[in-house]
Amino acid sequence: MRHAEFEDPRLVEVYDATCPWSRDDDFFVSVVEEAGAEIRVLDLGCGTGRLALGLAARGHTVTGVDPAAASLAAARAKPGADRVTWIEGTSAVLPDGSFDAALMTSHVAQFFVGDTEWAALLADVHRALVPGGRLTFDARDPDDRGWERWPEQWDRTVALPGGGTVAQSVEVTRVAGGLVSHTIRYRFADGTDLASDATLRFRSEADLRRSLADAGFTVEAVFGGWDRRPVGAGDGELLVLASR
Ligand SMILES: C[S@@+](CC[C@H](N)C(=O)[O-])C[C@H]1O[C@@H](n2cnc3c(N)ncnc32)[C@H](O)[C@@H]1O
Repeated sequence: MRHAEFEDPRLVEVYDATCPWSRDDDFFVSVVEEAGAEIRVLDLGCGTGRLALGLAARGHTVTGVDPAAASLAAARAKPGADRVTWIEGTSAVLPDGSFDAALMTSHVAQFFVGDTEWAALLADVHRALVPGGRLTFDARDPDDRGWERWPEQWDRTVALPGGGTVAQSVEVTRVAGGLVSHTIRYRFADGTDLASDATLRFRSEADLRRSLADAGFTVEAVFGGWDRRPVGAGDGELLVLASR
């Protein structure tokens, strides 16, 4: 199943167990708070809500949007969830001129595989921001060729908070034209085997800058690491700060 890790409740639990608060989240919080205290934040592709909840706890007015019902259900069940407005959907549902900041975190940007859907997403976010509002997102730098390390990185056994374990592995099935396809496999202690297929788009810094400019954004900065190092000298990331 495509993107099953966000759609299947058993895999959503695994996602949550393997994606705790990290320096990535600290980076996004710091960017939001450059814009001010208690601002209106859109977390697009909010998943199970880790960052949306963290921002709401800091006093921001947060809207979390995601098309994956099982991920949103996990988010809604967490402490503090009533402080966030959760919307099951995509950028198409966003109201105009309603957010001071928009975030797409944990490489949501790479889920927009085609140029047309990426351009439509950027247009939606552009109209949803107030003038001067900022879009911030992470994307893996294709020059880092991170997918070559995934099989080793993902070969692990995860302890689940509800008890039990799951053995996880990944196979990269195709790399071509900026697209990386892979299958994540899960073997639960009770013998259940599940799998999730995905294709992610790896855009270069130049491609990101060009597409953002085409959508009417001004690119303020692109960093290569969570401590705001230059591209190529950091964590294999392209951390993009752009404003409407
Ligand atoms: C890697 S997860 C990141 C979740 C969350 N941002 C985090 O930091 O943990 C990617 C998320 O993007 C969501 N997603 C996929 N396609 C999307 C779309 N067209 N619009 C918005 N979100 C989407 C998935 O459902 C999933 O929750």
